[in-house]
Amino acid sequence: MSQLTQKVFNPQTLLDKTMDESRQGSAYEGLGTGKKRAYVETYGCQMNFSDTEIVASVLADSGFGFTKNEKEADLVLLNTCSIRENAESQIWKRLEYFKSIKKRNPGLMVGVLGCMAERLKKKLLDESGLVDLVVGPDAYRTLPVLIEEVESGQRAVNVLLSREETYADLAPVRLNTNGVSAFITIMRGCDNMCSFCVVPFTRGRERSRDPESIVREATDLYQNGYREVTLLGQNVDSYKYESVSFAGLLEKVALVASDLRVRFSTSHPKDITEDVVETMARYENICNFIHLPVQSGSSRILEMMNRGYSREWYLEKIKMIRGFIPNIGLSTDIIAGFCSETEDEHRQTLSLMEEVKFDSAFMFFYSQRPGTLAARKYSDDVPEEIKKRRLAEIIELQNRLSRESNQNDVGKTFKVLIEGDSKRSKNDFCGRNDQNKMVVFPKDDLSLQPGDYVSVYITSSTGATLIGQAV
Ligand code: 5AD
Ligand code: SF4
Repeated sequence: MSQLTQKVFNPQTLLDKTMDESRQGSAYEGLGTGKKRAYVETYGCQMNFSDTEIVASVLADSGFGFTKNEKEADLVLLNTCSIRENAESQIWKRLEYFKSIKKRNPGLMVGVLGCMAERLKKKLLDESGLVDLVVGPDAYRTLPVLIEEVESGQRAVNVLLSREETYADLAPVRLNTNGVSAFITIMRGCDNMCSFCVVPFTRGRERSRDPESIVREATDLYQNGYREVTLLGQNVDSYKYESVSFAGLLEKVALVASDLRVRFSTSHPKDITEDVVETMARYENICNFIHLPVQSGSSRILEMMNRGYSREWYLEKIKMIRGFIPNIGLSTDIIAGFCSETEDEHRQTLSLMEEVKFDSAFMFFYSQRPGTLAARKYSDDVPEEIKKRRLAEIIELQNRLSRESNQNDVGKTFKVLIEGDSKRSKNDFCGRNDQNKMVVFPKDDLSLQPGDYVSVYITSSTGATLIGQAV
């Protein structure tokens, strides 16, 4: 993620924190009882964080314990992201760092998991002494065997993609958890082929997970005190398992318990249906929040991106959604400076943002990824300074829209699910409202604790947070 994007409030703020913490290795202590210890860092999207919990489950079953201190580890795993060049260069640097540690501790195993493993298998193994283990997103079950191979002195690789693997039967080991909210992966892979995107190549074909196993996982989480689940998939609206559609799945999960909040990500504008939105409106515990990546406000660019919708279609979807749920919280993803984007097309993105008034956004400049449709078909011809300037304009506008959106909430009262202490002060709680906005308020009522719902009256706001008082 670019430096610039981090200034803006978005629903990933918490996740970015988790990411920072996991980079420092704060996860996992005390989990697993094995003698050998693993240290895992996770980069990138929510799906990767969820996958790390599957990896932890596989490792724990084969006798590994976990450490937050990389210096105590027998096995270092990096669960990696390839979505933009920046993400990959950060990981190469980390690998160089671990290479220097390996020099002092030759027994240390270093493995690369996730999208970079899939994309760069050969290159990762080419540099001697860098990586012992390369494992793609569909091959985590084979980790114990691969680790044994490494222990016997070989390097081990499995980057086979699968059409079936959903890890449905594995119980994720919850890492970095706040004990209140958890991710549940409902599908893997992506069949969309957006021209800029490397994901279909690194995560393979789309497949949905059996709904019964999803409901079971949600029920277990609820019984263990969790009060929020986020259903994850690259494109949740195309979830389909036998006769169960995404709307049907949402309903099943909503019925687990009326005080279990249900969220989901990511939706695709071309696929989100009235059924889904109507189901959201019908169940109080399905949160009124949609992350609906638009990518661009120009129909010509959207066509080149192979997104399957136009500007007008997107705006119609927003109208449909607001028709069912007027107070919906909306966030989006935007790419600045895609191939051949003109100044006028860039302004169309700005005007679409103004029109929709997103509450938050993830904003990037285009980063060409080898092997993608766009890399093969189009020239990456918008100069970097122009990409960056356009991105800065997009961020500036979103900062204003986020501030205004939060200002509008002053004087309202929201039901907030308490997640824990606020980042700034142990005297304050933080939690999110239905629309996914972070709310901070003083711990006046001593009986309240994380996992409780509380009504909070909003007294002021910043671009990132609503500030209030429990009522
Ligand atoms: N360059 C810049 N941003 C990208 N994204 C995906 N691929 C690229 C790329 N090549 C962004 C999209 C997507 C989000 C997860 O990352 O906005 O929705
Ligand atoms: Fe990539 Fe498009 Fe699939 Fe999202 S929907 S993962 S952007 S191909």
